[in-house]
This record gives sequence, structure tokens and C-alpha cells, in this order.
Amino acid sequence: MLITGTRTGIGKSLAEHFLGRGDTVIGCSRRPSTIDRPGYRHFASDLTDSQQLKRMFRTIRQEFGHLDCVVNNAGTAVMNHFMLTPEETTRKIFDINFFAVLACSREAAKLLQRSERATTSILNISTVAVPWALDGQLAYSASKGAVEQATRVMSKELASFGIRVNALGLPVVRTVLTRTLPEETRVKVLARQAIDRMCEFEDLVGPVEFLTSERSGFVTGETLYLGGVH
Ligand SMILES: NC(=O)c1ccc[n+]([C@@H]2O[C@H](COP(=O)([O-])OP(=O)(O)OC[C@H]3O[C@@H](n4cnc5c(N)ncnc54)[C@H](OP(=O)(O)O)[C@@H]3O)[C@@H](O)[C@H]2O)c1
Repeated sequence: MLITGTRTGIGKSLAEHFLGRGDTVIGCSRRPSTIDRPGYRHFASDLTDSQQLKRMFRTIRQEFGHLDCVVNNAGTAVMNHFMLTPEETTRKIFDINFFAVLACSREAAKLLQRSERATTSILNISTVAVPWALDGQLAYSASKGAVEQATRVMSKELASFGIRVNALGLPVVRTVLTRTLPEETRVKVLARQAIDRMCEFEDLVGPVEFLTSERSGFVTGETLYLGGVH
């Protein structure tokens, strides 16, 4: 499996979890790997650089021949009033959160088709900031909203290749990304969940396992939100 953004946070925890299960995991980030375990292959690649991205997929093809599933996890967030967010900042967020997801999915689809599995899977990591339309998160939630729409469209366009495409909408998880979230904001967003507590890694690993395995062989085009956000 390929998981993008494995140097820290959710991507790193997922990579370690699947390695612990005995899977072969390919990961990437701009900076060097923080995982040193058998079965793990890291690419120091900036996914917003199309040359680096294509080089990574070329090497994956040469070394592994195929992929069984892909988790598009690498991403970033900026929390700011839209009036105070420079356009350049918004474009950079879209570069990694949306355009890199499109590019990875495009390249990965070619390797997923070479899998022996009956169905393969692309899982895009999204956020509850999309349905909640949180103030101060316009650029971030718009980029992830675009990912959720891509999930629905791609699920149709890739179905005939046996590739399923789903998204996981995460609430606040304790990582580097949310380290600087003000306490007041944290309390406010948790109060909106049906389950009024912070999402832990153990809460998301089951849904990731399900959506990346053949157990979800008839599930595609869905965004599964955790924590009870409706
Ligand atoms: N944490 C939460 O509460 C939360 C909630 C909802 C959704 N999410 C989503 O979950 C995903 C992971 O978030 P996280 O909290 O684990 O964040 P994180 O700890 O900041 O991890 C992001 C990872 O992506 C990599 N990355 C960033 N830009 C990249 C690029 N241009 N090319 C390649 N790799 C890149 C980073 O490594 P380098 O810096 O070395 O590149 C890092 O490994 C994101 O898509 C985020 O939007 C998180």
C-alpha cells in the first residue's frame, strides 16, 4: 500500500500500524523518513512537484510492480479569516490538498490496475470542516470539499477498472497539525460531535482498514465522517 505524508501524524501512525500487520508500506514526505522498519520504503518527494511525483511512481512501478491501495493523506491546513488569507496561501493549500491528490490518484490508478485483488482502493483523507463550513477555515475546507467531490466523480470513472474511491472525514485528531488549535476552538468543535471527545488514532484505524480492504468491496464514492457530525 501507498500512504502519502508518512513523516508525522496520522500518516506515520497508519504506516506503523500496517507495517505491524506485516504489510509492505510505501510512504513519502518532503523531509526524510522517521520510520525505519522492515517492509517500509520511503520517498523524499514533494507531491506538489509533478516531476518528483512522477519519478516516485516510476520507481514504485519498477520496484513493486503494482499497488493494492492508496491513502491520500498528505495535507496541510491554515486557519485564518478569508479576508486575511493571501491568495498565494490558498493556492499552496490547494496544491497539496487537492492537486496532489488528483495527480497521485491518476498515477496510482495505473498501478492499482496491475493488482491481483478483485477490487483495489483509493482512500482520501478529508475533514468534518467540510460539512461544518467552519469559519476561519475557508481555504482548507474548500480544498477538502474539492477532494470529496473528486471522490464521488472518480468512483464512477474508475469503477470499471475495479478501483473504489472513498473518503474519510476526520474530526480533530491530536497531531502536529492541530497542536496550535486554540483551546476555545477545540472545545467548540468537540461540542458539535455526537461523541464529545477528541478522535484518537485507534478510532480511525478500523475505518481505514475497512475502506482499504476487500471487506468494503461494494462501497465506493462515499465520505465517512467520524464522531457523529450530522
Ligand atoms: N489532525 C487532524 O485533526 C485532522 C483532522 C481532519 C483531517 N486531517 C487530515 O489528515 C491528514 C494528515 O494530517 P496530520 O494531522 O497527520 O498532519 P501532519 O502531522 O502535519 O502530517 C502531514 C504529512 O504530510 C506531509 N506533507 C506535507 N506536504 C507535503 C508535500 N508537499 N509533499 C509530500 N508530503 C507532504 C508531511 O511531511 P513533510 O512536512 O516532510 O512533507 C507530513 O508527513 C491531512 O490531509 C489533514 O488535512 C487531519
